[in-house]
Amino acid sequence: MPERDPKKFDPARAHVLDAPERERYLPTDQLVALLELQGDETVVDYGAGTGRVSRAAAAALGDSGQVIPVDESPEMFARLREALADDPRTRPLHITDNHVPLPDGCADRILAANLLHEVRGESALTEMRRLLGGAGAFVLIVDWERGRDRDSGPPDELLYTAAEAGEELRAAGLVPDVLDAGLPFHFAVKATREDG
Ligand SMILES: C[S@@+](CC[C@H](N)C(=O)[O-])C[C@H]1O[C@@H](n2cnc3c(N)ncnc32)[C@H](O)[C@@H]1O
Repeated sequence: MPERDPKKFDPARAHVLDAPERERYLPTDQLVALLELQGDETVVDYGAGTGRVSRAAAAALGDSGQVIPVDESPEMFARLREALADDPRTRPLHITDNHVPLPDGCADRILAANLLHEVRGESALTEMRRLLGGAGAFVLIVDWERGRDRDSGPPDELLYTAAEAGEELRAAGLVPDVLDAGLPFHFAVKATREDG
């Protein structure tokens, strides 16, 4: 069997993404609130995992809005599709090599929760920039922050600080704004297109 990439989420731990205690340090409603949805947006949930946040974001949309959860892991994608099968406002897509089969500028919001450290060295942020629309559209990156005092989450050596995340976004042609989200273990950065 090929060796697992240590920075990538292990699908055998998928239950952790749905654990109720996660609400204590990363409330789903707070993530959705940070997306500032009006109801008619197209939201791409990049690295959607089990679809926990996708489902909550879809519930905040009206009939003209949609959430497109994407994931590269075949195991996670199978779970995602099953978890969201009853939700007509979601349209899960399996992706490979950071190629999302959607047109340029189609996304009003792109959420990447607990993903950034898994895509270090990949073209994920460039792909997000391609997908991102113009005025009012933004990417929301939320991830475990290196250096926070905690006893769960990925090892510190895999993680970014908020400032480093901002540099990665800038390198991908996005303009970062570090938010004061008050999360105990995570940073939150909102980013728009340089030319948006
Ligand atoms: C730690 S989980 C987070 C899941 C979800 N965002 C959440 O907060 O519950 C990271 C997910 O991103 C997926 N992933 C990692 N790299 C990816 C990539 N380059 N493209 C798409 N999905 C990716 C993994 O398969 C995994 O399901």
